[in-house]
Amino acid sequence: MQNETRKKLLMIFTEANGDWVSGQNISEKLGCSRTAVWKHIEDLRQEGYELEAVRRKGYRITKVPDKISGNEIGLGLQTERLGRFIHFEESVDSTQKIAHKLAYDGMKEGTIVVAEEQISGRGRLDRKWHSPKYTGIWMSVLLRPNLPPPKAPQLTLIAAVAIVQAIEEVTRLQPNIKWPNDILLNGKKIVGILTEMQAEADKINSVIIGIGINVNQQLEHFPEELQTIASSLLIESGKTYTRAKLIQVILAKLEKLYDQYLQHGFLPIKLLWESYALSIGKQIVARTITGSIKGVAKGITDDGVLMLEDKDGKTHYIHSADIEM
Ligand code: BTN
Repeated sequence: MQNETRKKLLMIFTEANGDWVSGQNISEKLGCSRTAVWKHIEDLRQEGYELEAVRRKGYRITKVPDKISGNEIGLGLQTERLGRFIHFEESVDSTQKIAHKLAYDGMKEGTIVVAEEQISGRGRLDRKWHSPKYTGIWMSVLLRPNLPPPKAPQLTLIAAVAIVQAIEEVTRLQPNIKWPNDILLNGKKIVGILTEMQAEADKINSVIIGIGINVNQQLEHFPEELQTIASSLLIESGKTYTRAKLIQVILAKLEKLYDQYLQHGFLPIKLLWESYALSIGKQIVARTITGSIKGVAKGITDDGVLMLEDKDGKTHYIHSADIEM
């Protein structure tokens, strides 16, 4: 739906103040057919609006989507560095792209980029990340750790632990981690993490942790091919959540774990990560770019590499793969 049409349509409903507006009335005011009205209403639903439709009465909005703004995230934020500079946009290609540019321009550690919608959200292994408007958290966090580049994957695992803890605190649900960076509820993916870095040979310049969380989507918000493998906090709990609040808790947990990590190293994080991990001790298949390896997941190394023991007792060290359980 074009921006102008959306604005006009929302104005019609605002003026109705929660009352019914007939399809005829809308079609006259927008200057379009009744079928086009129905299509616009569907678009609003896709954006997170809830509307009732009743014959002879028309339509009325029963719930407007929860929106995020820089102010809402900033107010009550309990961190010292993370989220102290917020770059917020309504619609972007990818928050990763913006965060990389800000990192290159010298922005400080802790800067975050948040958008209501991503047109070309990126996932791992060059996949797309579905990021519809007003329903999820699409955020990139800029860190500048004083570490050698091979340590960067550990930051993904820290982020995964922080997000699990935040989801537990806010929703009382108990998600699990699937190596290296998927967070699942009842076997379905609700969070994806994409860590990218800018580095010199022996020093990290910046790490961008991209976090995608399905929060308030209904099943029909997902494309059909994702409906059996992905889910949202709403679908799993029947409740909607204030995304700005969840962002605040994630940033607080992430800052705490990150500082712990910089002071005491990876071991405490590794133990926490393993306590949330689904695959440890289980038979899995790791699909790597060079082929598939079957075996029992033994745990992760101090560098966050997955250890897989095959049937001959040989340990394989997996740096990057898709895991099937
Ligand atoms: C995955 O493949 O599981 C990782 C998905 C990461 C998605 C997030 S959403 C915010 C940030 N911007 C992007 O384009 N991708 C990441």
